[in-house]
Amino acid sequence: MAQNPLEESEPNPLGELDEWEEFLLERYPAPGEKASFRDYGTTARPSVREFYRLNHRFQTVDFVKEKKRQYLAKSQRVMGIWEAMEFLNTLVDDSDPDTELTQIEHLMQAAQAIRADGQPRWFILTGLIHDLGKILCLFGEPQWAVVGDTFPVGCRYSDQVVFPEFFRENTDSAIAGYQTDCGIYEPGGGLDHIHMSWGHDEYLYHVVKDHLPEEGLAMIRYHSFYAAHREGAYNHLMNDADRRGMEWVRAFNPYDLYSKAHEAPDVEALRPYYEDLIAEFFPAEINW
Ligand SMILES: [Fe+2]
Repeated sequence: MAQNPLEESEPNPLGELDEWEEFLLERYPAPGEKASFRDYGTTARPSVREFYRLNHRFQTVDFVKEKKRQYLAKSQRVMGIWEAMEFLNTLVDDSDPDTELTQIEHLMQAAQAIRADGQPRWFILTGLIHDLGKILCLFGEPQWAVVGDTFPVGCRYSDQVVFPEFFRENTDSAIAGYQTDCGIYEPGGGLDHIHMSWGHDEYLYHVVKDHLPEEGLAMIRYHSFYAAHREGAYNHLMNDADRRGMEWVRAFNPYDLYSKAHEAPDVEALRPYYEDLIAEFFPAEINW
């Protein structure tokens, strides 16, 4: 990617959004696969490092509050779930179209893997929709405000968050009230009361929260919160309901990470099944 040395940085350093998920697979290889380098700090691609540098620098308390003001009114669009899937599909990266799957194919792969395991229908639907929040990119948000590991803002950053050294560039690091263990929150007060870094997880949670059971909502809201569901950090902010929710997030995570290697699903053949499933839980249109 061409970089103008006079500019401070390229706002979207990833060649494609999926580059972040490829990096997750390097950090968390499938069980039975060879352990990859644990020292991701030196092996990560420069584009991925730069992406996290921007993410950790700019995800401040004020930024998150501003994005919530902007998006939680859900006044961007009115559309159905399938329409949102087709809208997300217009997000075309500069990757090779012969080797890369479309966004709908990615979503169906996760859903099909969940379905093949005989999981409940709400779980299959959760897999189908869990990444629809990535349409934030189509609303003009930079990559670092759409994807990436999520983490609480307004309290001390855990060293279990990927690339913790980049938090030094975040202006919240200099605010003493944000750098105690619980920061602006109560111990054990529950994740629902904390501000997570802004991205596709939190946005989609607010869009669909009236339509799915709480287990599915936990999967959607915290699937990128790797410091918690993979590393066990931030337990001191959680209540018992959050700890139960994390079990569901952990149940979902293998489908998110490890369903992508298989062949592309036949989207048109599967569409009637998924349209029925969507109609079981969602009205024809919802606010985005
Ligand atoms: Fe995701």
